[in-house]
Amino acid sequence: MSKFEKVLALPPERIPQHIAIILDGNGRWAKENHLARSQGHLAGANNVETITYACMDMGVKYLTVYAFSTENWSRSEDEVSYLMFLLKRYLIKNKQDAIRRRTRIRVIGNVADLKPDLQALIRDVEDSTADLTDFNLTFAINYGGRDELVRAVRGILEEGPEPSDITAEVLRSHLDTHDLPDPDLLIRTGGELRISNFLLWQLAYSEFYFLDKYWPDFTEDDLEQAVLDYAGRERRFGGRK
Ligand code: FPP
Repeated sequence: MSKFEKVLALPPERIPQHIAIILDGNGRWAKENHLARSQGHLAGANNVETITYACMDMGVKYLTVYAFSTENWSRSEDEVSYLMFLLKRYLIKNKQDAIRRRTRIRVIGNVADLKPDLQALIRDVEDSTADLTDFNLTFAINYGGRDELVRAVRGILEEGPEPSDITAEVLRSHLDTHDLPDPDLLIRTGGELRISNFLLWQLAYSEFYFLDKYWPDFTEDDLEQAVLDYAGRERRFGGRK
């Protein structure tokens, strides 16, 4: 059987257009393997590449990963700086590859509060890939759903609207994700059953898939299983047929 044959045999509308992933369990994976936490994050970062290519091969168009939350600053200074190092390394290492694969890279989150060198790198990678449309890879960095909503509301108020001007569409268009479709499928690894302040607005009608496996152990086969599970669900978006 060729790779992802079961997914590729699905009617195209049954394949999630946008998958969002909460990458959890790097630390526990490292501990169980008698490695430093940093090794867990490194394995996790490498797995983002594997899973990105698998998404492309399955016909998924958007992948959004939760790489660093607004709450992650409370980790030790060493861990925070290693995660920032991995993000920089990822962007530097993958820029040319993204261009070759016609992938647009975006970063969502409070980028203005990141270190200037990381901000400059993000701008460079975003600008260099802005016109590419085959695939969309988005990193949530210094991202929190509540923080995103607060920043969106501030942005709207700066435009001096009347109360009646405020609509769901106006709010949506001020979110960091204004040019992304909502996720069809949210996957969370690591066994926890919560969304941890990720994409609070955007996940309103997404399908959720939780699995009890650490992120570095999440394989292409696990992704295929999640997509097949999604394909079997009936989405009603609050309505009834
Ligand atoms: C959760 O594991 C993961 C994170 C806090 C960050 C995710 C970051 C990466 C995968 C590396 C950098 C990312 C990219 C995309 C280059 P955890 O430490 O909370 O695990 P634990 O719950 O087992 O301790």
